[in-house]
Amino acid sequence: MKEVGIGILGFGTVGAGVVEGLQKHSDLLAERTGLRLVIRKIADIDLDRDRGVAVDPSLLTTDAAAVVDDPSVDVVVELIGGTHVAKELMLRALALGKPVVTANKALLAECGDEVYAAAGQNGADLLFEASVGGGIPIIRALREGLSGNRILQICGILNGTCNYILTRMEHERLPFDQVLAEAQQAGYAEAEPALDIDGLDTAHKTVVLASQAFGRSVQMSDVQVEGIRGIDSLDIEYAAELGYRIKLLAVIKEDAGEIEVRVHPALIPCSHMLASVSGVFNAVLVTGDVVGETLYYGRGAGREPTASAVIGDIADAARNRASGTPNRIPAFVALKDVPTIRAADKIRTRYYMRLSLKDAPGMFGRVANILGHHGISIASVVQKEVRSGAYVPVVMLTHAAGEGAFRAALNEIDALDEVGAPTVRFRIEDFE
Ligand code: HSE
Repeated sequence: MKEVGIGILGFGTVGAGVVEGLQKHSDLLAERTGLRLVIRKIADIDLDRDRGVAVDPSLLTTDAAAVVDDPSVDVVVELIGGTHVAKELMLRALALGKPVVTANKALLAECGDEVYAAAGQNGADLLFEASVGGGIPIIRALREGLSGNRILQICGILNGTCNYILTRMEHERLPFDQVLAEAQQAGYAEAEPALDIDGLDTAHKTVVLASQAFGRSVQMSDVQVEGIRGIDSLDIEYAAELGYRIKLLAVIKEDAGEIEVRVHPALIPCSHMLASVSGVFNAVLVTGDVVGETLYYGRGAGREPTASAVIGDIADAARNRASGTPNRIPAFVALKDVPTIRAADKIRTRYYMRLSLKDAPGMFGRVANILGHHGISIASVVQKEVRSGAYVPVVMLTHAAGEGAFRAALNEIDALDEVGAPTVRFRIEDFE
């Protein structure tokens, strides 16, 4: 049987999962692909740590560039992460015409144009299924299964850490800081959690999805990003009373020749499918103009799910190389007549607001006047009986309003003497 040599750069958690998966399913993969996938080299800066997987020590090296250059390595698997060394190695492999498999969403989001172009110019495969949604084959769905559609909308829960935190806050009525600390102790959240909880990891994945779906270059600066840091469990509770659940949502939506690309916590109806996605799970809802709504669900992170996606890409790259059809499906296909990015001020959504109002006559009226002056219509109002000094929480839901008008109204409202603390606000995503 023909052999295809694999070189793995980065022997961390995912790298070890890939090695284990390739060993475990060597025969299965050989049956499916007609090829024997053989690990020729594994590069890492630390060769001593026990990864819980047995490898021939002669495969291990600290010289990643030599792995890329090794003539017996046909497919390069980049699992180093980061945007510097990883990019250099990736470009080096592509320049040699070697297919590259990566899980590196930060690199694709920040330097996508450069690496996609390098893959195209060299006619080499660049495969990145593991970059979004862990084991969920969402990139393949967009590139292959849905290629007969114009994509109208993608909404996703793309960060397991945030979804785990929000789920526990809701189910156990715990404060954000306590859940984050416990998640860190249990290994569900990083010691430095900013990338996850400030929404950047989700934004990286959103950029990758948006560029695939719309065939245009999308930059991190095109994404409106808000994370979940410091979310108050009070809002989770009030949202639930109103029939909503708070999720960190990625939204990519096409409308009238523009796309909005945003990442933020949002109230979604408890009855919606995405509201049932709990804990570390991810889900992506994709709407195509021909197919309608489609939903993809699974484990969005971790050793095995990510390894599953990487191994699927290795198998594809090996098949393409063996059959002489590299770059059969390009990493990025630029389309004509692509939508422009909608300015933040023009993005229209409904809003949830929690105001801290002095319990005095005429307060609702003053707030309603300001909202009305900015063309914002109130859908419902609930005054909670909980008191914090002289102030009461008042929850308002609005009809759809532009972000610019809403922000201006909020500035005026928060400047009122009778408002005790800055108003908390979340977008509402009704999926209508
Ligand atoms: N840290 C991410 C998550 C996984 O929590 O979903 C890697 O993107």
